[in-house]
Amino acid sequence: MKLKIAVLPGDGIGPEIMKQGVAVMDVIADKFGHEFTYQEALCGAHAIDAVGNPYPDETHEVCMNADAVLFAAVGDLRFDNDPTAKVRPEQGLLAMRKKLGLFANVRPVATFDCLLHKSPLKDELLKGADFVVIRELTGGMYFGEKYQDNDKAYDTDIYTRPEIERILKVAFETAQKRRKHLTVVDKANVLASSRLWRQIAKEMEPQYPDVNTDYMFIDNASMRVLTEPRFFDVVVTENTFGDILTDETSCITGSMGLQPSSSLGEHTPLFEPVHGSWPQAAGKNLANPLAEILSAAMLLEHFGLNKEGALIREAVNASLDANVRTPEIQVEGGKAYGTKEVGAWIVDYIKKA
Ligand code: IPM
Ligand code: MN
Repeated sequence: MKLKIAVLPGDGIGPEIMKQGVAVMDVIADKFGHEFTYQEALCGAHAIDAVGNPYPDETHEVCMNADAVLFAAVGDLRFDNDPTAKVRPEQGLLAMRKKLGLFANVRPVATFDCLLHKSPLKDELLKGADFVVIRELTGGMYFGEKYQDNDKAYDTDIYTRPEIERILKVAFETAQKRRKHLTVVDKANVLASSRLWRQIAKEMEPQYPDVNTDYMFIDNASMRVLTEPRFFDVVVTENTFGDILTDETSCITGSMGLQPSSSLGEHTPLFEPVHGSWPQAAGKNLANPLAEILSAAMLLEHFGLNKEGALIREAVNASLDANVRTPEIQVEGGKAYGTKEVGAWIVDYIKKA
């Protein structure tokens, strides 16, 4: 298969983990006879420095002309510490999501048995937990009307019927392909926007009779993912709730550095780690490249390259079992490997497989 991939390394540890993601794609291309071509483009703080815009038009062109976007991370301490900054790296990510129409953010929550002890949750609670959070990504408070003066500020949590229907369709269909259990997470006891979500979900339920659908308030869901993570199969929720819930779910698996995601919608699909740019570690060969490498696996699987995706997952599991791990998940008393070394080990494994 021929795939044109837009590569957006971004800031902080982004370029280092991206190198490993691309190296893995390359070895897969060699092994399976595919042709992947890459076009790199600027985004985030790097793009602000270069052209004053965190998602420049040229980058958007590159993304629009690609089959898929492989993204790493954006964000920089200079902006984090300056709340008055008008142009911020994160705006690049938001602009990209909006302009590419990426309304469905899919964040799988899968555990690795050998890392269960790294989780803040007890092993027996977590073992076998395997669910996916589908976060609406281009609506709600993130994009609703905003206002701010010295005495008053507001953000508008607005959703329209078509926006809700299209994300729920993705959620119901995802549930059909999995264990057929969908949990719609909202705050329908308080918010009008949530009541419309719930009304529309109930209207759609009969179209998916094989899916067992239930409803949960976000405050309760935040607790249940910790106390009963195995309850969940597919969770769907609006943008802000999904943002918060997926940081919570990413840490229960033992390391945030292991969580990939995909964002799908109208134009080019995008694949990125759930974690951020960790600027403190930039250039230090410390960051875990596995979330980026697993994002590459999700990218390939999106195009039906399931054997290729499975081989990447096998290699990632093998690296963890062989204790070839970055410092945050290293075995106590064992050796820690760098970003490059973990990536090289995985490339080598795939080559020899
Ligand atoms: C995420 C991030 C972004 C978000 C930020 C960087 C704007 O936290 O992808 O979850 O809030 O959506
Ligand atoms: Mn977030």
